[in-house]
Amino acid sequence: MPPKFYPTSGHILICQNNNCQGRGSALLYKALWNHLEREGLAYYKKGGKVRLTESGCLGACSYGPTLCVYRQTPQGLEEGWYAAVDFPVAKAVAQAVQDGSELPEAHKYGPEQQRS
Ligand code: FES
Repeated sequence: MPPKFYPTSGHILICQNNNCQGRGSALLYKALWNHLEREGLAYYKKGGKVRLTESGCLGACSYGPTLCVYRQTPQGLEEGWYAAVDFPVAKAVAQAVQDGSELPEAHKYGPEQQRS
């Protein structure tokens, strides 16, 4: 039997590789997970639209913790990449996913074309 389908509007990944864990990414992941639970933003909560997953290296090891987000927009797949992420930044990204608003610019990295 296939798993139950939960509609999501965005997927956030937080690196849990060694360099990022050395900079607190495990605690960041747990804090964001708790926030999504508490505020009802998690995809499995009624009205929640955010999926959160641990990931391997996201390619900015010296600037972690790193986070990336993907979401479908009317213009296509949007992605955002963030370095030196703290809880306020992660929370702002999650809220933008939940609200369908613009992704925050603070702490973004990567080529300009990935910026929306
Ligand atoms: S270890 Fe996190 S980006 Fe490489």
